[in-house]
Amino acid sequence: MSQSFHRGRRLRWTPEIRSMVRETPPLLAEDLIMPYFVVETEDQSFRKEIGAMPGQYQLSLAELEKQVEKAVDDGLQSVILFGIPAEKDEKASGAYAEDGIVQEAVRRLKHRWPSLYVITDVCLCEYMSHGHCGILTPGGAVLNDPTLELLAKTAVSHAAAGADMVAPSDMMDGRVAAIRHALDESGLVMVPVMSYAVKYASAFYGPFREAAESAPACGDRKSYQMDPANAREAIIEALADLDEGADCLIVKPAGPYMDIIRQVRDAVNVPLCAYQVSGEYSMIRAAGLNGWINEEAVMMESLLGMKRAGAKMLITYFTETLLKQRLVR
Ligand code: PBG
Repeated sequence: MSQSFHRGRRLRWTPEIRSMVRETPPLLAEDLIMPYFVVETEDQSFRKEIGAMPGQYQLSLAELEKQVEKAVDDGLQSVILFGIPAEKDEKASGAYAEDGIVQEAVRRLKHRWPSLYVITDVCLCEYMSHGHCGILTPGGAVLNDPTLELLAKTAVSHAAAGADMVAPSDMMDGRVAAIRHALDESGLVMVPVMSYAVKYASAFYGPFREAAESAPACGDRKSYQMDPANAREAIIEALADLDEGADCLIVKPAGPYMDIIRQVRDAVNVPLCAYQVSGEYSMIRAAGLNGWINEEAVMMESLLGMKRAGAKMLITYFTETLLKQRLVR
């Protein structure tokens, strides 16, 4: 009897054949970028778990070094740093201070581990008393062009402290060009810009804003971050940032935006990074802690999806866990 249907199960029959026909390569340690929250504080024993992100901490410089030491032993290759300054003001002075918290953290990590690839998030919201990513008018509008100078100063100060790469996440127009120009003027021509080119105004950032103490005091970020309903606009943003000199791009959030990762992947030729954001992490952790899902399996599947969609690099709060549990090569 000849068969009139497709026997897809033939190539799923054993683990051997399944791995032989697997399309997406396994996760690698070098794909992973671990985010850390560093606090400017006198108390060098400061280490506080983030309520909405079990397993993630706000850390003093000394505690950061201890945390990274363990992760490096497990194979950590890259980090992205977020700073929480002791004081905030209306011009985000802490963001570009030579002895600012991120600048100090970069020096410390690069001194101890010269080959650890240190990326910095370039934004102003954590350093602004109002929590917006740019300079505000008295009426509460975020000013674009005057903000560019502060962002460029911030990026240069990070790179001058030794950051290997800067990642602007503010979503002001023209910031990649401003940052690239300022880096070049300062002789930092070899520091790449990985722009958060496609960053949506997402409710999935909620836990991060607790972690980074960066929730806007009034209003929201919809006048600068993208509308979650838009996909074609993602391509416009990606191409604009490349035109301005970005070396690689981030799509953020990742899980609910895998269609965007795929479309951007198909539209550009630079390396692509997916950011599995705080809310994505928190949901998986919460369901795992409740025993509602197999947390490890869901974590792996969520990241595999991002790679299948076309991302190479992954910023994920699961990085330490993946390395520690030997779930990556
Ligand atoms: C700073 C910034 C944010 C995130 C990364 N950089 C917060 C925001 O835009 O409100 C979010 C990351 C996360 O949720 O894990 N602008």
